[in-house]
Amino acid sequence: MSGQKTAWVTGASSGLGLHTALALRDDGWRVIAGARSFEDGEADGMTRLKLDVTDEKSVARFCEKAAGIAMPDALVQCAGMLVLGSCEETSVEEFRRVIDTNYLGMVRMNRAVLPLMRERGGGKIVLFSSINGLLGIPFQGAYTASKHAIEGYAECLQLEVKPFGIQVMLVEPGDHRSGSDRYRPHAAAMKPDSPYAAEYESGTGVIRRDEQNGSDPDALGRKIARTLDRKVIPFRKRIASPDQHLAVYVHRLLPAGVNAAILRRYYIRRRKGSSPRSE
Ligand SMILES: NC(=O)c1ccc[n+]([C@@H]2O[C@H](COP(=O)([O-])OP(=O)(O)OC[C@H]3O[C@@H](n4cnc5c(N)ncnc54)[C@H](OP(=O)(O)O)[C@@H]3O)[C@@H](O)[C@H]2O)c1
Repeated sequence: MSGQKTAWVTGASSGLGLHTALALRDDGWRVIAGARSFEDGEADGMTRLKLDVTDEKSVARFCEKAAGIAMPDALVQCAGMLVLGSCEETSVEEFRRVIDTNYLGMVRMNRAVLPLMRERGGGKIVLFSSINGLLGIPFQGAYTASKHAIEGYAECLQLEVKPFGIQVMLVEPGDHRSGSDRYRPHAAAMKPDSPYAAEYESGTGVIRRDEQNGSDPDALGRKIARTLDRKVIPFRKRIASPDQHLAVYVHRLLPAGVNAAILRRYYIRRRKGSSPRSE
């Protein structure tokens, strides 16, 4: 089909990446989808290519193969993971893995794709951040740090690439019922005798419940596909429930101490008799 636009989508084997890839395909885009679990080939009306965003060689191979098929009008970066654990007990290696996947994975992909977009005179780069890119919640320290890094990085990136006709969009999803537990391992040290055990159980229970009751991932995919059809795309696209929009708004307005009290009250529901060591 002549005039067909092409999107390269990372993290497209599961969750929001998969839903976004499918929505783009349904909207008429040629989709070249990357993930570690893919074998190279065609499936579901998309081209699949193996991709590990933590591996420079894999990124180079993906980009070379994808460029041989069709240059990117859009690069949509959804590859991500989180490790659940207290900041104290999440190991440096676990922090490194999350940052390497969520943040440095985007850096690697952008470094490979920006020259292609500059040469073609433009393109759109979509970076999946999160509400956690704007505020922190307990037991997601590594993930929250990676998403805050993406937010800061994207602000710099958009200023630099504008003269080349390249636009950047941060997608900030709230909870969506899409993510797989496979990408949410518990830190190895989070054992029942952890000093954080009671609060950890409560906090991760709320996190899991909110995701299971979260928004519709298909709708998010369709929103992104519709937005990418526009000539000019917004720098920030928050796709979240009204209460999560409110949480971000309140976080900006209220003093830090009040915010912390609200967030603790929401996430930490201790059962009577559990150990309140910190208070
Ligand atoms: N679900 C939510 O509620 C929510 C909320 C806010 C933000 N987000 C963000 O949305 C994005 C998708 O999350 P999700 O929860 O919907 O999906 P998910 O089910 O957690 O899927 C993660 C995806 O990332 C890929 N991936 C992981 N490590 C990779 C690597 N090293 N190289 C390439 N691909 C890799 C996985 O594929 P392979 O294992 O096949 O590589 C998979 O396709 C993430 O950036 C996440 O932070 C999600």
